[in-house]
Amino acid sequence: MSTQQIGTREVSEDEIAVHWKEESYFEPGPEFIKQANLSDPNVRKRFALENFPECFTEYADLLTWDRRWDTTLDTSDPPFWKWFVGGKLNASFNCIDRHLAANKNKAAVIFVPEPEAMATEAITYQDLYVRVNEMAALLRDFAGLKAGDRVTLHLPMVPELPITMLACARIGVVHSEVFGGFSGEACGVRVADSGSRVMITMDGYYRNGKLLDHKVNADIAVETAAKEGQHVEKVLVWKRHPDRYSSTTAMVAGRDHFVNEVLDDYRGQKVAPLAMDSTAPLFLMYTSGTTGRPKGCQHGTGGYLSYVAGTSKYIQDIHPEDVYWCMADIGWITGHSYIVYGPLAVGATSVIYEGVPTYPDAGRAWRIAERLDVNIFHTSPTTIRMLRRAGPLEPAKYQYHFKHMTTVGEPIEPEVWRWFYHVVGKDEAVIVDTWWQTETGGFLCSTIPALERMKPGSAGPGLPGIYPVIFDEQGKEMPAGSGRAGNICIRNPWPGIMQTIWGDPARMVKTYYAKYCKNLESKSWSDWPYFAGDGAMLAEDGYFRVLGRVDDVINVAGHRLGTKEIESACLTVEEVAEAAVVPVVDEIRGRAPEVYVSLKPGIEATPDIPAKVVHAIETTIGKIGRPRDVRIVPDMPKTRSGKIMRRVLAAISNSMDVGDITTLANPDVVEQIRVQVQGQEKFVTRDGPEDIKQFGQQE
Ligand code: WTA
Repeated sequence: MSTQQIGTREVSEDEIAVHWKEESYFEPGPEFIKQANLSDPNVRKRFALENFPECFTEYADLLTWDRRWDTTLDTSDPPFWKWFVGGKLNASFNCIDRHLAANKNKAAVIFVPEPEAMATEAITYQDLYVRVNEMAALLRDFAGLKAGDRVTLHLPMVPELPITMLACARIGVVHSEVFGGFSGEACGVRVADSGSRVMITMDGYYRNGKLLDHKVNADIAVETAAKEGQHVEKVLVWKRHPDRYSSTTAMVAGRDHFVNEVLDDYRGQKVAPLAMDSTAPLFLMYTSGTTGRPKGCQHGTGGYLSYVAGTSKYIQDIHPEDVYWCMADIGWITGHSYIVYGPLAVGATSVIYEGVPTYPDAGRAWRIAERLDVNIFHTSPTTIRMLRRAGPLEPAKYQYHFKHMTTVGEPIEPEVWRWFYHVVGKDEAVIVDTWWQTETGGFLCSTIPALERMKPGSAGPGLPGIYPVIFDEQGKEMPAGSGRAGNICIRNPWPGIMQTIWGDPARMVKTYYAKYCKNLESKSWSDWPYFAGDGAMLAEDGYFRVLGRVDDVINVAGHRLGTKEIESACLTVEEVAEAAVVPVVDEIRGRAPEVYVSLKPGIEATPDIPAKVVHAIETTIGKIGRPRDVRIVPDMPKTRSGKIMRRVLAAISNSMDVGDITTLANPDVVEQIRVQVQGQEKFVTRDGPEDIKQFGQQE
């Protein structure tokens, strides 16, 4: 069990009271309630535990099945739950073909390029159908891909990304999209892990006013994958501008092909959607975890698609006439579930914006909303903070009206929530604060928008059919209103939960279930609570407030980065002997990594070393991992057994009490580092946020 220091007393984690003021509620408006998809006050009864798992057939019934399932939930091999077993369906058919009869002329996707002078492109369901079919034919006949093969995508926020995803889904190919902002190396590691023979990328894309060379990353990715033992046969390159090449890197003969050119051979071709088993994998999404290597979360077809369709309809409240804009990147799970699969499964119009929300100025997002008449707006606290800083009064200048807004990815400060509500939402929009993860496929905690009051800073109760619980370190349930934080878990399986970790099922059991499963032989789902790895507390009213990660993952701008991955990047710098990465509170990004390095014997601390460290992080992970600071220290604070005490460094970086350090092997270095970071004068320590207090406690 972990302990920490409060004042001079050592206390166990479950004793730590969280000081947090209760916020007052906000009510959904009558206009919203009148039109809501989910307004039946009995919904929670329908999804009561005694109706589990059958309650989830309501979600599965939103889809079109080629064959209906025989077994709703198969628990014979815990915790590898199988949903809607015996059923057959195709995700691309469900997101496209079935909407054609009534809605072929409706926009499925509206693409907004970052340069404001470039025209917005509306892609109708009919257009999408044609383009996905042609791409599916190319993937099958030119790339030689077949059902079950994996293919890595490294595509930016352009319509070619959902087109490629849906083309894969059409023929049962498992796509693994790597966030476009990740470096070539990070992409290559994921290519190798997934065993992809084919990579699909784009030559360039616009970001912050510049046309970035993106193809260059594919060359690095292929090289990295080769080092890891994976040969990439084909690199398929979409052109950002079909009439020209937007990269300076050479196309490698025999390996690299322009998709736009090869497609000419497939014009007008149709590929019948393959009826896939409900349990067939649909995609992989890599995420950071407690050890260095990213985990390929494998999501299935029937369960996943049912869950994202159901939650898009009832929690996002998407109706056919709505214009829905989620500002996340499709390269993250939010984009997969709530830009592509969920919204298209329910026949929505989904907006895709290529670039930065504040480019070229603070009004951009609101101009897009006004122009397209967006009425459902989905974003993250980091983006909200950024928009608020760039133009606090900007939204009022534009004539848009949101009925519904979503926040996701990190805890939102009540202050920021209120700005979102009053200024962005103009006191009209209902807000859902949705807590979930890459692993969970879809939302887990949120209020039901028309039925439940909002409370700033709290996600809300479990969704219908989701039963969260907070356990202390011993596995004892912490009751509502205890005022203490513990580990949030989910008691029951749900259709969106990932199927396994690609290539490493043992890690699935170890990471998410071993902690609280009392009997690893049990076939009963109730013995297998899902451990999410987040600290949270449960208020009297049944609302969960999520505090942040309890493991060594740093949530930067809503994206999980593994500290070990960043540390290994630092160690590639020749002069560096040891590296430790800790989270610091960042006004915009929520948390940012801060790096401490010690140097090899005899090496001088020169100013170029931090620059080299930053460069190493940017090349192995991407700009998203850029540290706030790189500090060269004489030595790392260590335990007698030689472990680096990251919690001490995190305390120093955040001006918090370093706690008891008398048991360290080198306690003196702590004061040296403190002075180096905070300056000579006696520093006033403050009470830091819970996730930072807990950081490094497991060491
Ligand atoms: C955090 C993103 C507080 C949490 C969908 C989780 C949140 C991690 C919220 C998952 C929220 C996500 N309030 N924290 N509404 N939503 N998180 O896998 O720590 O990129 O474990 O999935 O983000 O990040 P991931």
